[in-house]
Amino acid sequence: MIWMDFLCHPVWAVLTAVLALVVRLQRRGSWDPHACTVQLKGKTAIVTGANTGIGKFIALDFARRGARVILACRSEPRGRAALKEIIAKTGNSNVHLRLVDLSSLDSVREFAKRILQEEKALHILVNNAGVSGLPRQITKDGFDVSFATNHLGPFLLTNLLLDLIKCSAPGRIVTLSSLNHGKGRVDFSHFHGDNISYFLDNVYNHTKLHNIICTNELSRRLQGTGVTANSVNPGVVMTEVMRHYPLMFRCLFNIVGFFFFKSAEEGAVSSIYCAVAEETEGITGKYFESDCSLALPAPLARDAALALKDFEICERLTSKL
Ligand SMILES: NC(=O)c1ccc[n+]([C@@H]2O[C@H](COP(=O)([O-])OP(=O)(O)OC[C@H]3O[C@@H](n4cnc5c(N)ncnc54)[C@H](OP(=O)(O)O)[C@@H]3O)[C@@H](O)[C@H]2O)c1
Ligand SMILES: *[C@@H]1O[C@H](CO)[C@@H](O)[C@H](O)[C@H]1NC(C)=O
Ligand SMILES: *[C@@H]1O[C@H](CO)[C@@H](O)[C@H](O)[C@H]1NC(C)=O
Repeated sequence: MIWMDFLCHPVWAVLTAVLALVVRLQRRGSWDPHACTVQLKGKTAIVTGANTGIGKFIALDFARRGARVILACRSEPRGRAALKEIIAKTGNSNVHLRLVDLSSLDSVREFAKRILQEEKALHILVNNAGVSGLPRQITKDGFDVSFATNHLGPFLLTNLLLDLIKCSAPGRIVTLSSLNHGKGRVDFSHFHGDNISYFLDNVYNHTKLHNIICTNELSRRLQGTGVTANSVNPGVVMTEVMRHYPLMFRCLFNIVGFFFFKSAEEGAVSSIYCAVAEETEGITGKYFESDCSLALPAPLARDAALALKDFEICERLTSKL
């Protein structure tokens, strides 16, 4: 009985609250975007999936710094709402919405064509859009929809915009990966939805591994051009990323997340650091952790021979024959 009294003592509640507070404060990265005075006037940036979550806060930051910002979104109404919000919050009216569905190669080509017609320069590209928890579905291009959205679409987009970015150098390409890449494997039949288990979001883990692998190969191809390409882990972030999961799962994510996960604004910090900070100028082919430190990604992500093969296969799959 005396033990029960001990365990029920209010001091535990107080200690738990203090611990939660400490964890919450620790969550903040060491780099503060608001303290970074870099201006982006005269620079153009594209952020994919900029209508919500991490992407919206990345775009908001670029707009605050005076950039011409292009929100690359798939939904017109959701994109419009974000556009209005960003213009209202920053007073920068040089923010524009362009529609793209990254799961469709035709849509990516249409989008890139329009960008190449309309934009004189492109200095920053953030490949942020991504999906998690989608069931198996094959796109009209013959790819698994998660692979198309998270990897092949952004891969093609980056390549189609590459000459413009090179002409505008110095430039930075930032691709959002995830800690989950560490559990991913490489099997090129996955692209077509073969041999994949969708259990525990295996497919998401694979796509996030390919993100880093191809970004590293891209960085090697960009040596000497003044354009850098890096991957970023935003951390575990409270966004709509769980929207395709069952309700129970989402509730749990949100309850735990309220205390321990980053807000979408905090989740944007490592990507903003990679895209604008003076400290990261010239750094390329690297993987940034959610606290903005440089880290080694998983061994498969560092295999240069595998990267060359992966890049060439993706080039072939996304080329128009
Ligand atoms: N949240 C996390 O804990 C976490 C952890 C590690 C990595 N990440 C990565 O961070 C990135 C952003 O995620 P988030 O958490 O901000 O997720 P989110 O809130 O779900 O936002 C995802 C964004 O991607 C867009 N998108 C999805 N499918 C698209 C398509 N086919 N074409 C064009 N845009 C598409 C969405 O547009 P709609 O709103 O129109 O659907 C939305 O704007 C993703 O790459 C994700 O993998 C997130
Ligand atoms: C995907 O990655 C997450 C995070 O590392 C892990 O919890 C999950 O088990 C992985 N899924 C599979 C099937 O390995
Ligand atoms: C993938 O599946 C196909 C049949 O769909 C099979 O022939 C092939 O061996 C499998 N590859 C791997 C690596 O499991």
